[in-house]
Amino acid sequence: MLGPDPVTGPVVRPRRLRTTPALRRMVAETAVQPRQLVLPLFVREGLAEPYPISSMPGVVQHSRSSLLAAVSEAAELGLGGVMLFGIPDFKDATGSGAIDPSGVLNLAITDVVAEVGDALTVMSDLCVDEFTDHGHCGLLGNDGQVDNDKTLAVYAEMARAQAHAGVDMVGPSGMMDGQVRVVREALDSAEHTDVSILAYSAKYASAFFGPFREAVDSSLQGDRRTYQQDFANAREGVREARLDVAEGADIVMVKPALAYLDVVRAVREAVEVPVAAYNISGEYAMVEAAAAHGWIDREAAILETLTSIRRAGADVILTYWAAEAARLLR
Ligand code: PBG
Repeated sequence: MLGPDPVTGPVVRPRRLRTTPALRRMVAETAVQPRQLVLPLFVREGLAEPYPISSMPGVVQHSRSSLLAAVSEAAELGLGGVMLFGIPDFKDATGSGAIDPSGVLNLAITDVVAEVGDALTVMSDLCVDEFTDHGHCGLLGNDGQVDNDKTLAVYAEMARAQAHAGVDMVGPSGMMDGQVRVVREALDSAEHTDVSILAYSAKYASAFFGPFREAVDSSLQGDRRTYQQDFANAREGVREARLDVAEGADIVMVKPALAYLDVVRAVREAVEVPVAAYNISGEYAMVEAAAAHGWIDREAAILETLTSIRRAGADVILTYWAAEAARLLR
């Protein structure tokens, strides 16, 4: 390698490729495209008007009709898909609203599919935490702990209900061992072999989920550390992703994204299926809060954030900025 010459200066000048916007654009290694973005949407039972989520400025709990406006806009913008979360009026210990065919999420799936048809991939959260009065992702045993295997039976029923409602892809997010296998079997035995699975594979017990708890009116006390992963562990994330592929996951996901870009990269290198990453509520809130104070250039920060997640190896990004980013990228 030629080093800098004390008389004539450096011979190798990487800055040459940064001279003009056209040149920078030509050699950019990574791009973000609207088709790679999935917009998470919240729909709340009984709302007449959308209701703002204070910790996520710009994000709302949708009414049935505002949800349809949001999904048709998402389709026009060429997004990859939407991920639906339901907030029921009524919660109980087993999260029965999740399997009720007329529960808020199952109705929303049918509505959204009728609205957008094949223009978007319609995905739904497959977890009971929005539907349980204790806010956990599963059923509690007598010891107050989440009972993995009892919960699997509920996930199987939930998968069938969502498939029956017309969903394209289910997103099991509860971090129960064996959940992907049980969901796959439930779908297949109900002849929903074409419904695919986006597995929340490496999901970490994260402080950055904070604003989401407001978004879904979570009842949770305490934390999810007995089932979501310890943030100290990267290899374990790869192990979880491999297990989910073996159990039938079509896409594996790492979540959160920003504090876990090393895990995104490691999972990308370990499996062949598409890798998704979830740019979660707290990641959104941090940028929005700083921008609201004038401390950060909001649009630049959004594009840098999404590009960094793609650069780490994510094929697909779930992000509350999906629609806005698609507009910025036009
Ligand atoms: C569980 C679920 C959570 C999120 C998505 N699915 C919350 C949790 O595990 O506590 C978080 C999404 C976000 O923070 O944006 N159903």
